[in-house]
Amino acid sequence: MKKFAIFVAGLLVSATALAAGGGNTEQAGTDLGDQASLQRGAQLYMNYCSGCHSLKYLRYSRMAEDLGLTEEEVMNNLNFTGAKFGEQIQVAMTAEHANAWFGKMPPDLSLIARSRGPDWIYTYLKSFYLDESRPLGWNNTLFPNASMPNPLWELQGLQHAEYGEPDAAGERHVTGLKVTQPGELDASGFNQAVRDITAFLEYAGEPAALKRQSLGVWVILFLSVFTFLAWLLKKEYWRDVH
Ligand code: HEC
Repeated sequence: MKKFAIFVAGLLVSATALAAGGGNTEQAGTDLGDQASLQRGAQLYMNYCSGCHSLKYLRYSRMAEDLGLTEEEVMNNLNFTGAKFGEQIQVAMTAEHANAWFGKMPPDLSLIARSRGPDWIYTYLKSFYLDESRPLGWNNTLFPNASMPNPLWELQGLQHAEYGEPDAAGERHVTGLKVTQPGELDASGFNQAVRDITAFLEYAGEPAALKRQSLGVWVILFLSVFTFLAWLLKKEYWRDVH
């Protein structure tokens, strides 16, 4: 009975944590087998994120090979820092500037998909809203008071928060988000753009995963052929016995 009470209490605690919005994320729906999505994600990342965030464990050359791009394509369209093809994806911004503008250096994103998970990144990029009380005018429902301004506002449009009635402390909480002024993309187009960026960051967190997946197909194929040969061999050996 006591155990049951503890179990119920545990359930209640986790239910409240969920209701408080602690981990309410949307599903990213990324597909690492979709090379076009990864290529678009790389382009979006370089255009909208690489000015502030490095990917220092990934080299341009490696990215070209994994994403099916030529050296020329990468150097012309995806490299804005003047780095060499074989070098890592560093950021041009200095820590001094970053501290002045954001109060901190934007973190390297090489491993972000592994630490936060794709669903978190996807939801985070969709959860920015205009908030005049913040230094840069932006806030985020998933990461409250984040010091990053919405990098994708031109694509998404201007998103505003909807607030509920004041609570006992007189505070009004965000109950929903709404794009009040459309951007370059409609809602589903924007979701796809964010999904592409998320997929690219997932790839960047584990570049070997792509190779492993395509290798997997050959392993299965090999095993099937091998099983067939083994079966033929078995038939041959047992022919005289039966
Ligand atoms: C103008 C600079 C700037 C741009 C552009 C920018 N970021 Fe950020 N980003 C920041 C800063 C600053 C932080 C630190 C936020 C904090 O800790 O308060 C951050 C934090 C993050 C985090 C959270 C890291 C953590 O603490 O877990 C993620 C994820 C992220 N950025 C992804 C992106 C992506 C993806 C893009 C491009 C679509 C992007 N950022 C564009 C400045 C930027």
